[in-house]
Amino acid sequence: MNAIPREPWREPPIGLLAELTHRCPLACPYCSNPLELTARERELSTEVWLRVLEEAAALGVLQLHLSGGEPTLRTDLEAIVARARALELYSNLITAGVGVSERRLEALAKAGLDHVQLSVQDVDPEGCDRIGGFKGSLARKVAFARAVRALGLPLTLNAVVHRHNLDRLERFVELALELEADRLEVAHVQYYGWALANRAALMPTRAQLDRSVEIVKAARERYGDRLLIDFVVPDYYATHPKPCASGWGRAVILVAPDGRVLPCHAAPTIPGLDFPSVKDRPLAWIWHESPAFQRFRGFEWMQEPCRSCPRREIDFGGCRCQAMQLLGDPEATDPACSLSPHHARIRALAEAEAASAPPPFRYRRLAEPAAAVPA
Ligand code: SF4
Ligand code: FES
Repeated sequence: MNAIPREPWREPPIGLLAELTHRCPLACPYCSNPLELTARERELSTEVWLRVLEEAAALGVLQLHLSGGEPTLRTDLEAIVARARALELYSNLITAGVGVSERRLEALAKAGLDHVQLSVQDVDPEGCDRIGGFKGSLARKVAFARAVRALGLPLTLNAVVHRHNLDRLERFVELALELEADRLEVAHVQYYGWALANRAALMPTRAQLDRSVEIVKAARERYGDRLLIDFVVPDYYATHPKPCASGWGRAVILVAPDGRVLPCHAAPTIPGLDFPSVKDRPLAWIWHESPAFQRFRGFEWMQEPCRSCPRREIDFGGCRCQAMQLLGDPEATDPACSLSPHHARIRALAEAEAASAPPPFRYRRLAEPAAAVPA
């Protein structure tokens, strides 16, 4: 695949997604991390991460999303948060919240943490344990959320929904209210990484999706003054695709645990692209000039129907990685789009998977054979 020679991209990224580690106490079967996870020995050092933050701030980044895996497994997280605060980067901790003591949370708040985003796998304790592969997880998450609010930090609950927990969506809303969350993100699973490997186990029915749309609409009407609810629909049932990552190399820059810099989680699944590392190149060069980031900027690479579609400036043709995964062509219109000639086949595939008995979960594990547990 040839890179298209271009002028350097002028706009800065808004957000840096810092994937500090792939280590995690949970094993969610819909994890967006790659199937080949990075081992601890290959993670970036504290020194390099602090330099990356300096470079990101100089580049114009405003928000820092501290993610993983589980970012609190990094013992240098306080130092990273403190540097973000010194550089006036808004820091958001994305955590599973199962192994974080009140003392640790206080230390992070003291270091300057601005916001916490907590994943909740299910509102049913057994379901929460089964999906995350971790015993006693819900009680720990609830205690963690209360500690976040007691410190006066803003809280977002992140509910990833699928066929196994969608029928409890109303209770997710109730939990968010009870925990005084500012925001609830109801996100249908996006099928990349481990989620793609577990697609048949997770795919909801069309009826479940329709019901979730109604529940979110009613909750927004009823609680709109207290709780902001974001909603992400499943691609396979969409009419138009999402503007994935707000467009390739347009708004978000992701640094993986080993230092590779990516436009999105799944970018390495696209063959022929060489993603530079922060160990070898300045972040500014990677963002503005690297061939991998330039590859799907602008509109010249597009095929029909995207090329002449008025929505191309809204969704940028959807997701390049999904076009690669499902069609073997990263330049194709995302088949989540109803205008794609492949859309009907993708929709039929989703309906067939949702109508079949779910296969066992393939749990996400670091350096262990994937375990099969009945779903
Ligand atoms: Fe978006 Fe392309 Fe579909 Fe138009 S044809 S809506 S640009 S994905
Ligand atoms: Fe890579 Fe959508 S996940 S462009």
